[in-house]
Amino acid sequence: MQAQQQTLLRDAMRRLNMTRDAFANRIGVSRRALDTWLLPDESAESRAMPEIASRYVMELVERIPSGDEYTQRVYSPSILHEGRPHLLSVDQFSRDSVEALFQVADTMQPIARRQKITRVLEGAVLANLFFEASTRTRVSFGAAFCRLGGSVCDTTGFTFSSMAKGESIYDTSRVISGYADALVVRHPEKGSVAEFVRATNVPVINAGDGPGEHPSQALLDLYTIQREFSRVGKIVDGSHIAMVGDLKYGRTVHSLAKLLALYRGLKFTLISPTSLEMPASILDQITRGDHVIEQTNDLQTGLKGADVVYATRIQKERFADESIEGYTPDFQINQALVDSVCGPDTLIMHPLPRDGRPGANDLSTDLNHDPRLAIFRQTDNGIPVRMAIFAVLLGVERQVQHSMRDAAWKSPAYIGPDDAVFHGID
Ligand code: NCD
Repeated sequence: MQAQQQTLLRDAMRRLNMTRDAFANRIGVSRRALDTWLLPDESAESRAMPEIASRYVMELVERIPSGDEYTQRVYSPSILHEGRPHLLSVDQFSRDSVEALFQVADTMQPIARRQKITRVLEGAVLANLFFEASTRTRVSFGAAFCRLGGSVCDTTGFTFSSMAKGESIYDTSRVISGYADALVVRHPEKGSVAEFVRATNVPVINAGDGPGEHPSQALLDLYTIQREFSRVGKIVDGSHIAMVGDLKYGRTVHSLAKLLALYRGLKFTLISPTSLEMPASILDQITRGDHVIEQTNDLQTGLKGADVVYATRIQKERFADESIEGYTPDFQINQALVDSVCGPDTLIMHPLPRDGRPGANDLSTDLNHDPRLAIFRQTDNGIPVRMAIFAVLLGVERQVQHSMRDAAWKSPAYIGPDDAVFHGID
């Protein structure tokens, strides 16, 4: 079982803030050897790390000087809103607490990859309350809870809920809290999920409050960026992130921009039609760090030099009277554009869903076979990250590692037809 060594190595690289090359050099092994130690167990190339090397890495981590501002100090995961276990906003995180959460997510990888099972949440019930459209967020929160051994109750839309009969958020939240041990809530109004929190002591997770925030998506996005960067020799500090599309109503970019701003010296290029620019409140918050922010309507120039291109869907369902003039087919991220302006290591991300309807100009499907397209690695990462969120909120994160057993059923080594290409570069 090499999963523990992968967690140890990823944790060490994160805490030392080192690329794979720098870390291999630091521990005196070849980059190739380090890569094979980091491969998932099911990969034919995966190798066990010699005992002496793992002892050395553990010592290195223990010796990290506490005064070094570039490395991580306090290292215990916590997700607290006003002192209580709820996840409402990325504002609840420091860089240290984010990375501690990612360490928990790394321990979940063998379960997310269906090699192992755990029952640490056996008997616990999740209420998945979605008052707005969702596929991946609802299912992945449900699947994450089930993979920790819990069970899930769902409700979708207003029509079939008592809110259609005029019930208040307070009453709904208090009632459901009597049935379930955690609430995941998506609601079309900004700030609404905070109202659920007022009526309950059971952990509540914001799965999207209108154009407000989507913290779990931002966490899985950042987790993806770190994992992908580690492979191509980059770190988040100093990177160039281009965000494209509906930055006004896109809650995923609101949360992600704030979360990335916890790092150092980033360049943000914000590319959108003028009517859909990033809200001033988010800009204010990210300008407080040592970051460079550029805003433009020009996709071609905006994407140049970007390490990450984060595309988003135009959120038409939230429009008041905005026009999207200028949002023409030229605004689409497709293979030709990526080939002409992006580098060989540029990551192409999107929270999904992609709007595939004619005239939507969303991220093109012609990139589907390009390994720079990280969208399905991103969705896959939703499971370990959401498992980590539940484990921390419900206080079982330390029990997971020791509770794992082998999965009894057979699952494919690669989930999708393109994953051999994608995961071959893991
Ligand atoms: C996003 C959302 O709902 O905010 N989807 C998601 O949760 N992955 C993005 C969108 O709807 O465009």
